[in-house]
Amino acid sequence: MTFKVYKSSPMPFQGQKRRFINQFIEVIKKNPSKIYVDLFGGSGLLSHVTKSVYPDAKVVFNDYDNFSQRLANIPKTNQLLNDLRTLNIDIKRGEKLNATQRERVLQRINEENGYVDYITLSSSLLFAMQYVKSFDELSKSTMYNKIKMTPYSAVNYLQGIEVVRDDYRKIYETYKSHPDVVFLIDPPYLSTDCSSYENYWRLKDYLDVMLCLYENSYVYFTSNKSNIVELCEWIESNTGGLNPFSGATTQTMRVAPSYNSSFTDMMIYKFV
Ligand SMILES: C[S@@+](CC[C@H](N)C(=O)[O-])C[C@H]1O[C@@H](n2cnc3c(N)ncnc32)[C@H](O)[C@@H]1O
Repeated sequence: MTFKVYKSSPMPFQGQKRRFINQFIEVIKKNPSKIYVDLFGGSGLLSHVTKSVYPDAKVVFNDYDNFSQRLANIPKTNQLLNDLRTLNIDIKRGEKLNATQRERVLQRINEENGYVDYITLSSSLLFAMQYVKSFDELSKSTMYNKIKMTPYSAVNYLQGIEVVRDDYRKIYETYKSHPDVVFLIDPPYLSTDCSSYENYWRLKDYLDVMLCLYENSYVYFTSNKSNIVELCEWIESNTGGLNPFSGATTQTMRVAPSYNSSFTDMMIYKFV
């Protein structure tokens, strides 16, 4: 039986590695291994494509944000979005909701019992890149009619993947001595908006991740905004400290979120 391969997260997820996915697939295809550990799993996209390339490999997805819960609630989320679509039937796509329209949308959301996927609601109703986590926050936001026309679906997305949920340091400790392990390391970006993540990342947190790059094979993601590669090179040249990126290969991609801003996303990998 063949399964659909997703090249982007089946549900909205800020920071997913959608843009790098084809390059990532090429890199892991050239460097086969038996075990892959996705330390900062996010939407699980890297775990998903890795499992599709190597169905027999062990793939561990660190589901720190409980993305699986969002997947498990897709039918409930689809039902809610369907009702909101009906309420907004006369509003053009992208148009701002007036006070009455907002009120009836909020009223319908308030009727939900149990789990509500606020990230998906944010991407359906709020300005681009704006995310809320609660009804209270949502009720203070300006809303737009951005609900996707088709229902969400994620059939077999995490099929055969081992799902764990813990701080990346603990997961790293568990697997670091395995001879065939490849760590997939995509930490939250420094100095970017992490409002939909579970916590906020400072420089020290970001540097601590470097400790996972010294002994094992890895595919690491960063951007030139973090200046981390430059910092490691400086430390190596001026202090003789070890540069975790020495001997690694870098692939880059220019990203332009708006017409007057751009940065470079990087995928850095080393197989030992
Ligand atoms: C850039 S995102 C990863 C995106 C993922 N590669 C994808 O394609 O969807 C970084 C993730 O790390 C998570 N995170 C934050 N602190 C963490 C920690 N201490 N341990 C593990 N994951 C953490 C964030 O919540 C976020 O989901």
